[in-house]
Amino acid sequence: MKKVNRVALIGTGFVGSSYAFALLNQGIADELVMIDLNKEKSEGDAMDLNHGLAFAPASLKIWFGDYSDCKDADLVVITAGANQKPGETRLDLVEKNTKIFKGIVDGVMGSGFDGIFLVATNPVDVLTQMTWKFSGLPSHRVIGSGTILDTARLRYSLGSYFGVDSRNAHAYIMGEHGDSELPVWSHANIGGRSIYDIIADHPERYNVADLDDIFVNVRDAAYHIIQRKGATYYGIAMGLVRVTKAILQDENSVLTVSAYLDGEYGEKGVYIGVPAIVNRSGIREIMNIKLNGKEAEQFHHSAEVLRKTMEPVIN
Ligand code: LAC
Repeated sequence: MKKVNRVALIGTGFVGSSYAFALLNQGIADELVMIDLNKEKSEGDAMDLNHGLAFAPASLKIWFGDYSDCKDADLVVITAGANQKPGETRLDLVEKNTKIFKGIVDGVMGSGFDGIFLVATNPVDVLTQMTWKFSGLPSHRVIGSGTILDTARLRYSLGSYFGVDSRNAHAYIMGEHGDSELPVWSHANIGGRSIYDIIADHPERYNVADLDDIFVNVRDAAYHIIQRKGATYYGIAMGLVRVTKAILQDENSVLTVSAYLDGEYGEKGVYIGVPAIVNRSGIREIMNIKLNGKEAEQFHHSAEVLRKTMEPVIN
């Protein structure tokens, strides 16, 4: 008998409802229970999504529920919490959202939940670490969306710059999902060819200095989107579904999620965006790729930023 894959979604605001819509359209889970303080809105979302079932690639049992439905969930995805307002950084949200998370994680764990947490709420690295602390689960079963969206933004930008399908543009953003994140240019390639070799081959077309602009636009993308439409949700929702798929389908895919470091990259005791192998058990292992001097320095700085941000809430 095939295992029924149940996802419990905590928070059905813009990100949560976009995640639910993407999950339905990609046919990845068997059950989706939607949980939110705003019962009306959440119930309405469940009804609205159910009306799309006839057009979906696979069935998905969708309902509005409560924490007791988390007991049999394989994955709990948390998108609830306050989001950035124009001009606010993600780190400004830490105290407000930590309080909210204590209630959420206690509610989920009180159901007898023994699966995997996937956290999206910002500041996502800090809140993933708080989820791990509050839940008492092993660190490999508490994952944050990390820099999965930043990496996708970088791949999209490199695809546009070099005129190739962004799925053939390979590069990572690592570190904090935020202002101290870093591009790992030393490993960036297009279809296996280093971007520096491509730039050197075509100086009439490309310039190394353009990479700085590309990175700054990736790092600041959320601010630009929030300025225009008040929030971001489609990109992050699709990133969350990508992680969900890697977990539920036991893919062993490499994704730049927020993972707990216990010595990797010379860092210990912090959740931060790194390439990690993701499967049914959560994080199977962290990919310890070789960073050059500048990248390593930026990565350690980013880890320090996260430690300092966590100070008011970690104890
Ligand atoms: C963004 C949000 C998810 O980067 O932090 O769009």
